[in-house]
Amino acid sequence: MRVLLLGSGGREHALARALAQDSDVTELHAAPGNPGIAQHAELHDVAPADPAAVTALAAKTAADLVVVGPEVPLMAGVGDALREAGLSCFGPDRAAAMIEGSKSVAKEIMIAAGIPTAAARTCRSEAEVSDALDAFGPPYVVKADGLAAGKGVVVTNDRRAAADHARSCGQVVIEDFLAGPEVSLFAVADGARAVPLLPAQDFKRAGDGDTGPNTGGMGAYAPLPWAPPDLAARTVAEVVEPALAELSRRGTPYRGLLYAGLALTSDGIKVIEFNARFGDPETQVVLDRLATPLAGLLAAAADGDLAAAGRPRWSGGAAVTVVIAAEGYPGMPVTGDRIDGMDEAQQIPGAYVLHAGTVVRDGTLMSSGGRVLNVVGTGLDLAQARAAAYAAAARIRLRGGWHRNDIASQPGQPPSPVG
Ligand code: AMP
Ligand code: GLY
Repeated sequence: MRVLLLGSGGREHALARALAQDSDVTELHAAPGNPGIAQHAELHDVAPADPAAVTALAAKTAADLVVVGPEVPLMAGVGDALREAGLSCFGPDRAAAMIEGSKSVAKEIMIAAGIPTAAARTCRSEAEVSDALDAFGPPYVVKADGLAAGKGVVVTNDRRAAADHARSCGQVVIEDFLAGPEVSLFAVADGARAVPLLPAQDFKRAGDGDTGPNTGGMGAYAPLPWAPPDLAARTVAEVVEPALAELSRRGTPYRGLLYAGLALTSDGIKVIEFNARFGDPETQVVLDRLATPLAGLLAAAADGDLAAAGRPRWSGGAAVTVVIAAEGYPGMPVTGDRIDGMDEAQQIPGAYVLHAGTVVRDGTLMSSGGRVLNVVGTGLDLAQARAAAYAAAARIRLRGGWHRNDIASQPGQPPSPVG
C-alpha cells in the first residue's frame, strides 16, 4: 500500500512512525512533513491545505490512501477533492468536518442526535452575550464559533473577561460549565460504523498543577487506570454512533477520525467538543500502544469497510509524552534555536523523541515552532513510562526550552478543567 500523509507536527510524526511500522505499507510519502517524518517518508514540498495540489501529489505518488493529519486541510475541502478524484482519503469532507469547524454546528448535531452535552446558546450581539452569561452563571464558558487553534475557549469566573472574550470573537457559543475529569476518545469511523481507540488524557495548561494559559497540549498519557472499563464502549454508543447516524442523515457521512472531548460528570458522559482529526499530543501515546497495523485500519475506514478490519488490539503497559516547548510559548514562541541531545535522549530505555516544530538548517536541527518535540516514554506501567519520558527529556538541550514536570504524575487524579 502506498500512503500519503498530510501535515508536519508531532501528531504526524507519530502517524508516520506507526504507518512505517505497518508491513503492508510499501511506500510512505508526506507533505510537507518535518525532519522526524523524513526518517520514515519521502517528503514533498506541497501545501497540505491546497486541494488541487494534494490531489495532484496523490496521483503522482499513486497513493492508495491519503491520511490527513490536521484540521485545516479538511476545512479547505481536501477530503472532498480527493474523493471526487476517486482517491481514498482518511479524513472527512468539509461539511462533515464542520463538527469541529463550527461550535454551533457541533451543538446542532448533538441536539439533533440526542448526544449529552452542555446546554448552550449561540450569541451574535452584546445583548445576547449578556443574557446568556446571566442565564448560565459562573464559571462562564465562552467559545469562538470558528476554528481557533486551541485559543478560542475561555473558562472564567470573571464576567468582564468572559464578555471581553465574546466581544473579541464575533459569533460565540456560551454554555454551561461541565465539572469532571476530561478524556479524549478517538473513534475511527467509516461513515456508518466506528471503532474506539484507547481513551487518553492530555494536559492543556502551560503550568504545573494545571495553572497558566491554555496551550495546544503539553503532554498526554494512556491508558487511564482510573477510567471506568466500559468508557470507550459507552462513548461509542452514547456519542459516536449517534453523531455518525446524524451526519449520514444529513448526507455528509463521516469517514475519518472522530475525536470526542469528554467530561465525565456526576451526570454521565458529556461532550465538550468534537474534533475532525487525531488529537495532539494524545495521538503520540495512543498510537504507541496500538498493536494493530495502522494503515490497514485507516484504509478500511476510508473505504467504508471497517467491519472487515476487526477490533484494534493494544499492547500492554503505558505511554507518556512530554512536550518540549520553545521559550515564549504559548504566546510568541522563539524559533531558530539549536536542538542538542536527541541521540542521548533516545538511549534511555523505552524512550524516543518525535519532532513537532523542528527544521534542519545547514545540517543542524533547530526549533521552528512553539511545541518543538514530543518525548515519549514507555514502560510496563505509567510510573515506568513517565520515568523514561522525563529521563529522556532531561537529555534534550534547547535554549529557553521548557516542559511541564507533572505529566501523568497523579494518574488517579486527572487534571482539573481550564478556568
Ligand atoms: P475546546 O476547545 O472546546 O476543547 O475547549 C478547550 C478547553 O476548555 C477544554 O478542554 C476544557 O478544559 C474547557 N472547556 C470547554 N468547554 C467547557 C465546558 N462546557 N465546561 C468546562 N470546561 C470546558
Ligand atoms: N489535544 C487537543 C487537541 O488536539 O485538540
